[in-house]
Amino acid sequence: MNDKISIRPFVNGDETEVSKVVCKTIAISNKNDYPPEFIEENVKSHSPEVIAERAKDAHFYVVCDGEKIIGCGGITGYWGSETESYLLTIFVLPEYQSMGIGRKIVETLENDEYFKRAWRTEVGSSITAVNFYRKMGYTFKNGVTTPDEFNVVRLEKFNK
Ligand SMILES: CC(C)(COP(=O)(O)OP(=O)(O)OC[C@H]1O[C@@H](n2cnc3c(N)ncnc32)[C@H](O)[C@@H]1OP(=O)(O)O)[C@@H](O)C(=O)NCCC(=O)NCCS
Repeated sequence: MNDKISIRPFVNGDETEVSKVVCKTIAISNKNDYPPEFIEENVKSHSPEVIAERAKDAHFYVVCDGEKIIGCGGITGYWGSETESYLLTIFVLPEYQSMGIGRKIVETLENDEYFKRAWRTEVGSSITAVNFYRKMGYTFKNGVTTPDEFNVVRLEKFNK
């Protein structure tokens, strides 16, 4: 990872660039694990408006290479809970993957008060990212290793 890579809280106005990062990453990195219709729907559901709305509720961060946004991730209460949390929208542009940036995002989210206050944090992982979250110490919720009706695999981590 070069020393121009940094992570900061999302600010209003980031949503257009974040949406581009997410949509490009979905189209390239997730395409081998999902049918084209799902990829298309998933891209549609990460518009700048949706990102801006999500960033209001969540504690949302962006990773930058200099000024350019190259990754993102957020944490929020699990269905509004103050004692359980949920990781969301963790993406790293394909050309920046496998450099430790995903780990940096998860470590930042685990340092956030929304992680610290929760006894349990869940993530709805893409099929693509399951082994990444396992590497980050997340385990399969209820032992279920297969995707649910939303096509994500549920993993969780318990606070010590
Ligand atoms: C999943 C993702 C966020 C990981 O980010 P990344 O920057 O590539 O991950 P890192 O380089 O920080 O990897 C951290 C560790 O996890 C491992 N890892 C990362 N992705 C992995 C994978 N798909 N399978 C197995 N291990 C993986 C790395 O080898 C590394 O291990 P190490 O520390 O022992 O070397 C990124 O690949 C991505 O955006 N994927 C596509 C979008 C997606 O599915 N996002 C998740 C939505 S829920």
